Amino acid sequence: MEKRDLAAGPQLNRRRFIGGLVGGGTALAGVTSALSLISLSGGGTAAAATATTALTIPPLLSPTTTDGVDVYTLDMQTGTHQVISGVTSSSAGFNGSYLGPTIKVANGDSVRMDVTNNLGADTTVHWHGAHVPAKVDGGPQVAFASGETWSPAFTINQEAATLWYHPHALGTTAKQVSQGLAGMLIVDDDSDTSAALPSEYGVDDIPIILQCLASSAAGDVKYDVTGYRTSGLVFPVLVNGVNADSTTFTFAATKRRIRLRFLNASLSDIITIQRSDGATLTQVATEQGYLTSATEVSTIRLVAGSRAEVVIDAADAPTIQAVITTGWIAGGSGTYPILSITDNSSDTPADLPSTLNTITRYDTSGFTARTITLGQSGATMLINGVAGTTEAAMEANMIMTTVGAKEIWTIKNSTQLEHSFHLHDVPFQVISINGTAASGVDLGWKDTVEVIGTGTVVIAMEFTDYADDTYMYMLHCHLAQHEDEGMMAGLMVTAS
Ligand code: C2O
Ligand code: CU
Repeated sequence: MEKRDLAAGPQLNRRRFIGGLVGGGTALAGVTSALSLISLSGGGTAAAATATTALTIPPLLSPTTTDGVDVYTLDMQTGTHQVISGVTSSSAGFNGSYLGPTIKVANGDSVRMDVTNNLGADTTVHWHGAHVPAKVDGGPQVAFASGETWSPAFTINQEAATLWYHPHALGTTAKQVSQGLAGMLIVDDDSDTSAALPSEYGVDDIPIILQCLASSAAGDVKYDVTGYRTSGLVFPVLVNGVNADSTTFTFAATKRRIRLRFLNASLSDIITIQRSDGATLTQVATEQGYLTSATEVSTIRLVAGSRAEVVIDAADAPTIQAVITTGWIAGGSGTYPILSITDNSSDTPADLPSTLNTITRYDTSGFTARTITLGQSGATMLINGVAGTTEAAMEANMIMTTVGAKEIWTIKNSTQLEHSFHLHDVPFQVISINGTAASGVDLGWKDTVEVIGTGTVVIAMEFTDYADDTYMYMLHCHLAQHEDEGMMAGLMVTAS
């Protein structure tokens, strides 16, 4: 394999330094903006892709079934992987050296996840977007040591959605996720919409896991303030774990209608999905379920941790682009043609159902109101003034609610930085964004939402099910460094 010249400039260093990600006071801000300017000279827009290769699709994990329980076995292990083509990086994955298999479950399934930690470090695994009891949610309280197996068992209790799984231990989430510990978790259900949409994994139902990393040219993946301050960084973009910097992946569709499930598994970057020909995408789902109807959108903006589903007509033979913008500094960083679909189909799919879902919008008049302030003090990131870097701090700063509570939260960003607000346990509705009532696809159920610098997002949710007075859920920024640096609080849902 040809080894590329990693010092070669624009095409490889095509993205800006992730300026501002580390936040910080005046001195630190000075450092990051200086670095932004330096790398800007080598940054800019991606070169046109020069190669094509067939899209890699993560394997589907088959369970073993015992007494009606589907048992999924995940082995967290270290290894090596080429996040930059031709360069070996230390990596980690589930059942392999990078990323993890896709897990597909259905509403009502009884499942058990047998997760073995062979990382040589403490870890835990969170089922991002799953509505499960706090004890099995995989937050920092249930971290387990290398050599141990954690076996949470739960019942799938939610509508069809694209979820994911990743580590969530205190202070190590950014590191472990950046090493490759992430996988897709698909929830299916018996709705008419699920029956009507493509659902044959790897055939017409395709995961697209997007990652933007920062690395030394030698392949040392960076994930924290110290790492981001080093010089000579490159910023690989990966699709399903494979470097996409100068490659467009191809998918020859054998079915005319293709469903794509996009996941932004990056530590911080914002990824906008669009078609290269400027035509619209047909979005059918947000993070927590189907939209009320298929919605034509020109772009889909995914902040770190968020997902969206679209259906594609293969006959259009579209090329899907990912537009990468970094951190909180607005401005173009690169447009990558990531996926080119060709049509090998001979079927004629039925029309999409005109109604995909019923979403009853909350009347929030009687809801309990809270304000959640995202703040910072120097390089320490805060929620409601407290850095959630220890369990004690998170407990002291815990949001306490009860099963059945209906709440309206004002998420107030008191920083200049971009944040990606994520709530565990239950889906939420976005009520307003920076004072404007939610509309369009923002009316879909979500679990992760962008909060721009100094912006305010109002969300509403109901805490159905699962009382616990020992284990907490989390609410946090999904920019993984911000989470590790303290922008995380506990949420305890006790009996009413
Ligand atoms: Cu995907 Cu609490 O995180
Ligand atoms: Cu943040």
